[in-house]
Amino acid sequence: MKFNSVGIHKIIHGENFKIVYPCNLYECSFGDNCFVGPFTEVQKDVMIGDNCKIQSHSFICEGVTIGDNCFIGHGVMFINDTFKIGKPAGGLKCLWKRTNIGDNVSIGSNATILPVDICDNVVIGAGSVVTKNISIEGIYAGNPAKFLRNLDEGTISRCKERK
Ligand SMILES: CC(C)(COP(=O)(O)OP(=O)(O)OC[C@H]1O[C@@H](n2cnc3c(N)ncnc32)[C@H](O)[C@@H]1OP(=O)(O)O)[C@@H](O)C(=O)NCCC(=O)NCCS
Repeated sequence: MKFNSVGIHKIIHGENFKIVYPCNLYECSFGDNCFVGPFTEVQKDVMIGDNCKIQSHSFICEGVTIGDNCFIGHGVMFINDTFKIGKPAGGLKCLWKRTNIGDNVSIGSNATILPVDICDNVVIGAGSVVTKNISIEGIYAGNPAKFLRNLDEGTISRCKERK
């Protein structure tokens, strides 16, 4: 029997890095002030910027980069192998595709992110499936994810006023 256990293996991280174990993080990097919740997996060569929160049960696969100030909700799944050849690519990494997430991107719980580029200042709704690049900031939701509305800068200030 071959037995591998989850663990933290050869990661690079900045200041104030917090994790809740168990999680499986290997050969990936995190900037300053990042949080990683339990039951997450972050694979080899993933790069995550500063001030990011990776919530529990998320899977961030090889080929993904995430900018600064991002929120990856619970159970978010990234994909690098689209089964282009009608089955998993197996060891043929040349068939894997990359995903680039910009700064200030918040991804709702249980979303699935196919290999795409997402620009800065985007919100992805819970349970969405993102199948295409997003190059205009705003809120997107659904399967496949579509533009819902612009980001409303006023919401936070109105919320503070109500306190
Ligand atoms: C996408 C989201 C940001 C939109 O919020 P909103 O702008 O307040 O949207 P509304 O609730 O007014 O809904 C607008 C429309 O989008 C639809 N919609 C909202 N969220 C959706 C989602 N996740 N997937 C599919 N459709 C969605 C609504 O049904 C509604 O459709 P209608 O116009 O046909 O009635 C929010 O619904 C969401 O999913 N947030 C993610 C939160 C999250 O996962 N947090 C994790 C930490 S707890």
